[in-house]
Amino acid sequence: MQTKHLITVKDLSVEEIKYLQSLFKDFKEGKKARLDGRAILLFLESSTRTRLSFEIALRDLGMEPYYIGKGESSIEKGETFKDTIKTISALGFRVLVFRVPFVLYPYESYLVEDITLINAGDGTHQHPTQGLIDLFTAMEHYPSLENLKILFVGDILHSRVFRSSAELFRLFGAQLGVCGPATLIPSDLSPFGEVMVFDNVDEGIEWADLVIYLRLQEERFKENYINSKESYFLQFGLTKERYRKLKGYFMHPGPVNVYVDVDGEVLYGEKSLVLQQVRNGPYVRKAVIYGLLDKH
Ligand code: CP
Repeated sequence: MQTKHLITVKDLSVEEIKYLQSLFKDFKEGKKARLDGRAILLFLESSTRTRLSFEIALRDLGMEPYYIGKGESSIEKGETFKDTIKTISALGFRVLVFRVPFVLYPYESYLVEDITLINAGDGTHQHPTQGLIDLFTAMEHYPSLENLKILFVGDILHSRVFRSSAELFRLFGAQLGVCGPATLIPSDLSPFGEVMVFDNVDEGIEWADLVIYLRLQEERFKENYINSKESYFLQFGLTKERYRKLKGYFMHPGPVNVYVDVDGEVLYGEKSLVLQQVRNGPYVRKAVIYGLLDKH
């Protein structure tokens, strides 16, 4: 692969995405590959599936993962993120997987010589490996994404998953729709091409072949964007009745807030790809790490 880092999905060409998908499939079918060296998982925000699946991927590839959580690095003492990267690189680490509460853009000045950077979520900006999970999981369940109608429901405004997944789905020819409270829909959706905006989730669900629910990112709320979680669930959530009307599958990158985003009784129903997304996580991350490091 040309690129040595994965900060945004825009770092990847269509050919590189297809190459990553072939690696993902090979790893899922049991292909073995070895890499050496040490990797840092620097997570300044909480995580279950991203952190664990990166750790599984690194160990399976033969690399040595080290974990630093919130409050455990010298960032707390005022060291900048840029100097932290330089320090980690000087210690001989080969990979830095990072999750941070801020947007890393522009990011060119953060890319240093000897270390590969992989974004595991930066503020409201990007979560590229989640985007690849969503893309490859959808490709496993639909014969083609060309003109597939994909509806994102929820907090679009703060969603780094939306910004990554929507970009990837668009690249493969899908039609995009969004639905949520008007306060949580970005005023400018033009970077994603032609996007249908639905005020009414029932109309959106009738339109869509695949529905992707997104969590309310309350940790990023600067004001009260919704009246209450109860009214939000009734107006937009995946209730049992809406679940029955789904034409295809639904996905959710997790973590799910049950009875806010999705009814707990349908969360793992037969139209749910939620656990499939989780299961694909380590293979996607293995493909990304291997793809980025193999030639560098
Ligand atoms: N999808 C996702 O990023 O989940 P975690 O916060 O659990 O890693």
